[in-house]
Order: sequence, then C-alpha cells, then structure tokens
Amino acid sequence: MDKFVINGGHPLKGEVTVSGAKNAVVAILPATILAKDVCRIENIPNISDVTAMINILNIMGAKIKYINKNTIEIDTRFINSYVVEHELSKQLRASYYLIGALLGRFNRAEVAMPGGCYLGVRPIDQHIKGFEALGATVTMEENAMVNARADKLLGNSIYLDVVSVGATINCMLAAVRARGLTIIENAAKEPHIVDLANFLNTMGADVRGAGTDVIKIHGVENLHGCEYSIIPDQIEAGTYMVAAAATKGNVLVKNVIPKHLESITAKLVECGINVEEYDDAVRVSATGRAGKCNIKTMPHPGFPTDMQPQFAVLLSIAKGTSIISESVWDNRFRYAEQLSRMGAQIHVNGKTAVIEGVEGLKGAPIKADDLRAGAAMMIAGLVATGVTEIEDIHHIERGYENVVDKFRSLGADIQRKEFPDDDQKIQMGAG
Ligand code: EPZ
Repeated sequence: MDKFVINGGHPLKGEVTVSGAKNAVVAILPATILAKDVCRIENIPNISDVTAMINILNIMGAKIKYINKNTIEIDTRFINSYVVEHELSKQLRASYYLIGALLGRFNRAEVAMPGGCYLGVRPIDQHIKGFEALGATVTMEENAMVNARADKLLGNSIYLDVVSVGATINCMLAAVRARGLTIIENAAKEPHIVDLANFLNTMGADVRGAGTDVIKIHGVENLHGCEYSIIPDQIEAGTYMVAAAATKGNVLVKNVIPKHLESITAKLVECGINVEEYDDAVRVSATGRAGKCNIKTMPHPGFPTDMQPQFAVLLSIAKGTSIISESVWDNRFRYAEQLSRMGAQIHVNGKTAVIEGVEGLKGAPIKADDLRAGAAMMIAGLVATGVTEIEDIHHIERGYENVVDKFRSLGADIQRKEFPDDDQKIQMGAG
C-alpha cells in the first residue's frame, strides 16, 4: 500500500501552477462522442479519473493520441458501442455523462450506475427526468444498467427540482443534437458548466446562458471536431490557497481565473488572511493564526462543498469557534474523525460541524476518506508537528495532478512511500 508521509510544520513558500479542471474535463471528454470527428484538447490534468475516462472511450472504439502529457487528440469516428459495463463505470462518478453523450450520438445508451466518492446518497433522478423530457425511455435494469433509448430526441423544457451539476451537464449533452429548443431551468452555474458549453459551441452547438440558471439550447444536426483548452481547476487552486494560509506561508497560485475563486477568497479574507489578486494568479500569505468564520456550502457562486474539508483544517487551528453547514451532501464530514486524531476539536451533528480552534495539530496515521477529505488531510499533515502518514491516497490522485511534487516545490517535506502489507498490519495494530 502506498501512503503520503509528511513531516509537517513548514510554511509553504513559492509558486505553484494549477492544472486543468477535473470536473470540466470529465464532462468534455464524453462530449467528444457527439461529433464524429477529431478533437484536440489541451490542459488536460494527468489524474486517475481522466485516465479512467480515456480508457473507457478507448475501449468503446475512440482513438486516442497523446501529443504531450497534457494534450490529447481524440478521434471518435469509430466509436461503435453504446454500452458501458460496471467494471468500467464504477471507476469514476462522471461515467454517467456517457449516458447523455451516447444518447445524443446514437439515441441509445446502456451505462452501469457509476462509482465515485461516497458523500451520501447520490441519486440520478434529475438526469433521468431530463432524458425523458427529451423523448427517451429510461429503465433501470436489475444489474444496475441504466438503459436509455429514443426514436429521436426532441427539444423540451426541463425544470430541475434540485440544482445539480451532473443533471445539468447530462441534459446539455443529450440536448445539443435534439431537434428544436431545449430550456434547462434551475440549472447549475459552476465554472465547469460554462466550460462544457464553450466546448460544445466550439464544436458547432448553439448553447446559450450557461453560467446563469436558464440554459437555452437550439439543437443542431451535426457537430464537428475542434481544438479546446480546459479551464484551470477552481478546487485545486483553492486547496493550495488554503494550504498556504494554514501553514502561515506565502504562495503565488498561478494559472487561475480569480473570478472562480471569489467565494474562497472572501472566506480567507474574512479569516484575516491576505489575498492579492492578479490577472491569472492569486497570492495568499499569512503571518499568524487565522480568525474564525462560519461557512455554508452552496451551489456556485456560493461556497463550494468541494472546498469545505480543506477549510475545516484551517478553521481547526483558527482563533475561536467556527461553524460549517453542509447543504449539498448528506455525508461530507467523515474526515472529522481523522482530524480529531490529530488533535482538532470538531463536533459533527448531522450536516453541521462546530470547530473549536486549537493552537496546533499533531502528526498521526490517518486516511483519505474521499478526494477532498484526502486533500484536507494533506493540509492537516503539512500544518501538524511531527509525522503524518496518509493512506488510501488513490482517492487524492483521482483529482490532483503531481500533488507531491507541487507541495515539495513549495518547501513541504512530503514523500509518496510504498509500505509492505505486513508493516501495514503492524502499524494499524492489526498484526
Ligand atoms: C458534482 O457532483 C461534482 N462531481 C462533485 O465534486 C461536487 O461535489 C458536486 O457536483 C457539487 O458541486 C463532478 O463534477 C464529477 P450534483 P454531482 O448533481 O454532479 C442531489 C469532487 O470532489 N441530486 O450537483 O454528482 C445530490 O444528491 C466531486 O470533485 C439529486 O437529488 O453533484 C446532491 O445533494 C465530489 N438528484 C445535490 O443534488 C439528482 O438527480 C447536488 O449534486 C442529482 C443530484
């Protein structure tokens, strides 16, 4: 088993460059299916979720050419299957975007229910509602296959009962080639929704209003290949910003869109952290302990749920008591148990956590419960005195490119180490 081993207590200093956005690229890669052509996509992060999605497309018949480690050409002309089995779909949540994309291309999709981080119940009723509004018949087979088919897709109004990133994206994918006008109301407004709309429009689609809560899509008959560069990752940027603040460091976070970071910046400033904005970079610096603040997670442009675990680490060493209310996911405080082992005073009651700031954290053996919880544990390890060992790091590597190298370049003492299974048992007290 591989672990991250961190010798904490060093302020992070220097510059770090943010990679392409995971949650944009995992939607844009399936979207390439909609054109029978070649797309060249740049700024693709080298992370395991992307590897998994590329592998699925490859198995379906797409030809993938790596131009360099972050640029690929994807030729979807020879995709000849609309079936994605569970072995493949379980590797990442975003495999459900293949339903919308395959429906858009073949009027048919058979995709097993996806995997991904466990954050509580993750229903897809709103995705199905959207496909049905466009004229598809959707059934759930016994083997957890989602089976969607349509004679032809016809534009329609879709009102989403909850603001859902995934449902908004899936409805967009299915609607771009549907005949007539589709209107998605109560749509999600995340930066990656806008990035997907820009990608689809570069392929010849007619998508307007992305980034607002009403998206209008005039269906077009055909889409064509294009060249496109993925936007920077808002959450990766935010993770390095919080790491800089928590370690009382001074870090220039480069290749960002500061507008996407507004809610994160606002909360850091509220905690007394210095944030300077430039055209495509932000500098975060701190000399003392952060102040307390309260956070409520919300869909964009509210404070992102994907940043709440990282922020909880900062608040666990802040002066005073802070409250975090999680309003998107039912089960996003599993990391609290790990953080408590390091000396944090964090008390969870349902979807609320009360954090009494302590002077500092102490290194401990901990684990990454999911992707963002894992990122938070890395920040905790960087802050803590002594050694922190993090296991289950595959969660972190799903979404953070070169995370060890990036933290090392900021002066962190961190290594990825392989531990034999027997050592593992002894350390876990199970031997
Ligand atoms: C996306 O998940 C992200 N994943 C998540 O990021 C992120 O936490 C989430 O959006 C919220 O921002 C990807 O983009 C691949 P939702 P998604 O549909 O699309 C309820 C990360 O760490 N809902 O916006 O699955 C749902 O239960 C990951 O990068 C329904 O009720 O999230 C939740 O309470 C983790 N019915 C809320 O909506 C549905 O049909 C928002 O979920 C769909 C969703």
